[in-house]
Amino acid sequence: MSEYIVELDHVNKIYGTNHVVKDMNLHVKAGEFLTLLGSSGCGKTTTLRMIAGFEIPSSGSIRVEGESIEARQPFERDVNTVFQTYALFPHKTIFDNIAYGLRMKKVPKPEIRERVEEMLSMVQLEGFEDRYPAQLSGGQKQRVAIARALINRPKVLLLDEPLGALDLKLRKQMQLELKRLQKKLNITFIYVTHDQEEALTMSDRIAVMHDGIIDQVAVPSEIYEHPATKFVATFIGETNIFEGCIVEIAGRTCEVAVENGFVQANGDGFSNGEFVTISVRPEKIRFYKDDIGSFGLQGIVKDYIYVGSVLKCNIVLPNGNEVRAERLSGEEVPKVGEVVYVTWDVGDAVLLHNSDNTIYNALNNMPIV
Ligand SMILES: Nc1ncnc2c1ncn2[C@@H]1O[C@H](COP(=O)(O)OP(=O)(O)O)[C@@H](O)[C@H]1O
Ligand SMILES: [Mg+2]
Repeated sequence: MSEYIVELDHVNKIYGTNHVVKDMNLHVKAGEFLTLLGSSGCGKTTTLRMIAGFEIPSSGSIRVEGESIEARQPFERDVNTVFQTYALFPHKTIFDNIAYGLRMKKVPKPEIRERVEEMLSMVQLEGFEDRYPAQLSGGQKQRVAIARALINRPKVLLLDEPLGALDLKLRKQMQLELKRLQKKLNITFIYVTHDQEEALTMSDRIAVMHDGIIDQVAVPSEIYEHPATKFVATFIGETNIFEGCIVEIAGRTCEVAVENGFVQANGDGFSNGEFVTISVRPEKIRFYKDDIGSFGLQGIVKDYIYVGSVLKCNIVLPNGNEVRAERLSGEEVPKVGEVVYVTWDVGDAVLLHNSDNTIYNALNNMPIV
């Protein structure tokens, strides 16, 4: 028996000429909170619908608990889905909405009552059983939709942007509640969102999707600190991107020629002369008035933005590109307009293969070394 409860192997989905999901491999562990994160149109809903069995893959295989999803009808599967539009029955009470799945399965009435009450208490809606959906707020309706799915005790719950219609404050609160529920019930959640902060807050692991492809599957801190691609680096959190060419390698440290000078980053498996992308988070950028001896790009302090505990700094490089840095508020900083040296600890930069040769396209016929 595999340690994975949901397994996608080489899954493709093609609509006409639109290749929506491309050779996807995804293995989800039992009890895990896994998030599919990506911008609108990248294929998240299509992937979820295939796992639910509402869509058939054009090729590849999907297994739930080791069994091909096609082997069972949707209603026989241990998989339930919660949609962004709550899809509650408007003319049924909250009790009847939540009880629906159990009634279909002909569960005895006393047990239905007991389980509905348990669910109502779990989603903190005790006393709402006789109301109708129209008498609830958005957040309450979404909790009913979640209760209605959870009452079936699915092994896997698929959630497609379930908090998308809620305002920010309620969304934050529901994020924590959902995460708490998931851990308490020990149900595998496959959660879809385009909101990177939501993904970082809730997930055990995040699968970052991009144009039908999963770029990286990893725990949130790994995604943030060691993004596998430029897309992941720029999609999750803020970052500074430098495109360049490796001019020297000493051990793991690569010296890279970028437009404004020379910088360094650590990386394995790179070769001299290779085009690379470097990503450095704003909080890892350091800048000084004096040249401190290691590498540094000269720039001019453009402005500071005070945002409470941190000071956001913009530094303009000679080619006009801006570097975003952060300092703790209260620290002494160079004045606006002063020349500074921008640098970082070599281990704080992420070195990536520049597969689309951005730098090559920009510098095509220019001598760079
Ligand atoms: N039934 C369908 N027929 C044709 N194209 C579809 C269908 N469903 C989705 N698509 C297309 O597949 C792409 C991915 O859609 P979707 O999975 O809904 O993305 P996401 O949920 O990430 O926003 C989009 O270009 C969309 O237009
Ligand atoms: Mg979608």
